[in-house]
Amino acid sequence: MVMSVLFSFIFPPPPSLVVSGLTVISFMILINAFLSEIRGKHLNYSKFWNVNPSGKKQIKLPSKAGMLLLYTPALFSGLSSFFVFPHQGVRCDVLRSAVILHYFKRDFEVLFIHKYSGGITLESAIPITLSYFLSATTMVYSQHLTNGVPEPPINLFYPGIVLFVVGIIGNFYHHYILSKLRGKDEKEYKIPKGGLFGLVICPHYLFEIIMFYGIAFISQTLYAFSFAIGTTFYLLGRSYSTRKWYLSKFEDFPKNVKAVIPFVF
Ligand SMILES: NC(=O)c1ccc[n+]([C@@H]2O[C@H](COP(=O)([O-])OP(=O)(O)OC[C@H]3O[C@@H](n4cnc5c(N)ncnc54)[C@H](OP(=O)(O)O)[C@@H]3O)[C@@H](O)[C@H]2O)c1
Repeated sequence: MVMSVLFSFIFPPPPSLVVSGLTVISFMILINAFLSEIRGKHLNYSKFWNVNPSGKKQIKLPSKAGMLLLYTPALFSGLSSFFVFPHQGVRCDVLRSAVILHYFKRDFEVLFIHKYSGGITLESAIPITLSYFLSATTMVYSQHLTNGVPEPPINLFYPGIVLFVVGIIGNFYHHYILSKLRGKDEKEYKIPKGGLFGLVICPHYLFEIIMFYGIAFISQTLYAFSFAIGTTFYLLGRSYSTRKWYLSKFEDFPKNVKAVIPFVF
């Protein structure tokens, strides 16, 4: 019953041990990252870049360089797929264009939008870079493996494009609001206002989640859905920590502002 519902909108999993293994591994890594955030063990970037409970000496990179390191290999993986698998169907071309646009936007924001105050540790940068690179590569490769496989009975391609566009625009808009909180060379944190910041403290995460479901709908592969679900968990954990951080830092932080899902969480 569950399987027949699942395969009404997902391509059958490809007979590839590598893709099956990566589907399970990347999902488990994201669930582990969610549990770590909830338990207060953070990946060290942005507000939590300097949290180091173990006291071990860590190599630190400036945020701008670190973030470019995170996103650029995934961007090149998407771009190079057009040379490795040049003739694919529309679904695959749209999927890889969405992946490329997402990582291009990330690099663009790092260079021209975000105003950073800190850094990122190499210990956090390496696994995140690998995870983005592997997920972008596996996403496109799984799509390539659906070539010639009959389409699932329910077509989510067009709703996927709508979700992707809403997600990427909403995410960019809230990044822009955050960037306006700081003047040139300012490093202070303030309570963000505008957009959906009156409802949730991480609206940019909410739109990132919407964007990843957009990608999953466009793709309709098991890998893309498992990555979207894993990302949702991680961002739930990170937003939970972020809300806790605001509550501890600002006495006047409005208690009705949730973490990432308006009125719920
Ligand atoms: N797919 C995934 O698994 C995943 C994981 C993590 C993040 N992301 C996405 O990546 C994007 C960036 O995430 P992030 O966690 O780095 O976001 P973030 O912590 O909110 O930071 C984004 C930018 O806004 C600045 N900022 C944040 N809060 C501020 C405040 N109160 N006052 C002034 N400036 C503030 C940050 O400065 P500082 O650097 O100085 O803090 C940084 O430049 C998000 O859209 C998120 O959805 C995706």
